[in-house]
Amino acid sequence: MTARRVLTGIKPTGSPHVGNLLGAIRPALRLVDEGLDAMYFIADYHALTSIHDRAQLSHLTHEVAATWLALGLDPARVTFYRQSDVPEVFELTWILDCFTAKGWMNKAHAYKAVVQANQEAGNADADAGVNMGLYSYPVLMAADILAFDVDYVPVGKDQVQHIEIARDIAQKINHTYKAEVLKLPAAKLEAHSAIVPGLDGKKMSKSYGNTVPLFATAKELKKTINRIVTDSTPPEQPKDPEASTIFQIYKAVATPDEVRALADRYRSGIGWGDAKNALYERLLAELGDARTKYDALMADTKQIDVLLAQGAVRARTMARATLDRVRHAIGIQ
Ligand code: ADP
Ligand code: TRP
Repeated sequence: MTARRVLTGIKPTGSPHVGNLLGAIRPALRLVDEGLDAMYFIADYHALTSIHDRAQLSHLTHEVAATWLALGLDPARVTFYRQSDVPEVFELTWILDCFTAKGWMNKAHAYKAVVQANQEAGNADADAGVNMGLYSYPVLMAADILAFDVDYVPVGKDQVQHIEIARDIAQKINHTYKAEVLKLPAAKLEAHSAIVPGLDGKKMSKSYGNTVPLFATAKELKKTINRIVTDSTPPEQPKDPEASTIFQIYKAVATPDEVRALADRYRSGIGWGDAKNALYERLLAELGDARTKYDALMADTKQIDVLLAQGAVRARTMARATLDRVRHAIGIQ
């Protein structure tokens, strides 16, 4: 039996942070260890819907790729590539466009959120700031997936709707041509993935500017951790670890024994400065080796480009086969 295929895209719109490590990178690497046929790619053309700064788009693409490689992604075991290096995906996008009801896009969360924000701001144009890329974002995402006969797509909750749209489009095509032209993918939600809080206690997210970046320098890391919001409980007073942001972030990187030990220190009274220091030391230790690799990759981004290009060769062969099948089905030879 051939291995089940998992595929996921990572949008290079910000520096990877501790939340991404726990909620996305680690689970994805675990699937590789479990023997699944994994395809992980940098969704740079999705980032283009919002990033129109050439240097930034290029830099973030390298940052995201270097992060995954530094944290253990083995390009010999994972098809690791850049979306923009696989032109077949964009040809497939057009075909899918022609089977996608416009109304489905009107209901997509990301688009609806912008419309709502415009209405709340009293903007007469509900579509202000919406380009066609943002509007039809789910179709490109469907092509990313459907091009590769994928079984599972590991994603966060916010992306489940997109997987449903991909299934709807595939079903529409299969139904139209009365054949299994495209394979229906399933969303794979990380069942136990905790949400890592950010510096202010809200969900850590690059959109809230409250992240602990994975590969900041030691000095920046210290400064960032010092910004974690705490209350004015005196140092000697017992504290509830579960109610502490510092502790929640610590849990994302430490072993169960270390977590228990820090919880004991909380219950017998720990100063916030000491708690922050424990987190700082642990993060430095956790990411030390990866940082060395990360810095080496970022110092010579050509290495990254070579690896991504190799991955794209494999991805293109696979996408080509799907596209040939689809073109045949629809009558474009
Ligand atoms: P951000 O919220 O910073 O924009 P993304 O939406 O790009 O992050 O998320 C990329 C992946 O990282 C998703 O799979 C998401 O579930 C995971 N992720 C992001 N933030 C967190 C967090 N605070 N805790 C756990 N997982 C997270
Ligand atoms: N839309 C996803 C996000 O914002 C990124 C993405 C693009 C993706 N294409 C994909 C995820 C295909 C899974 C499969 O996080």
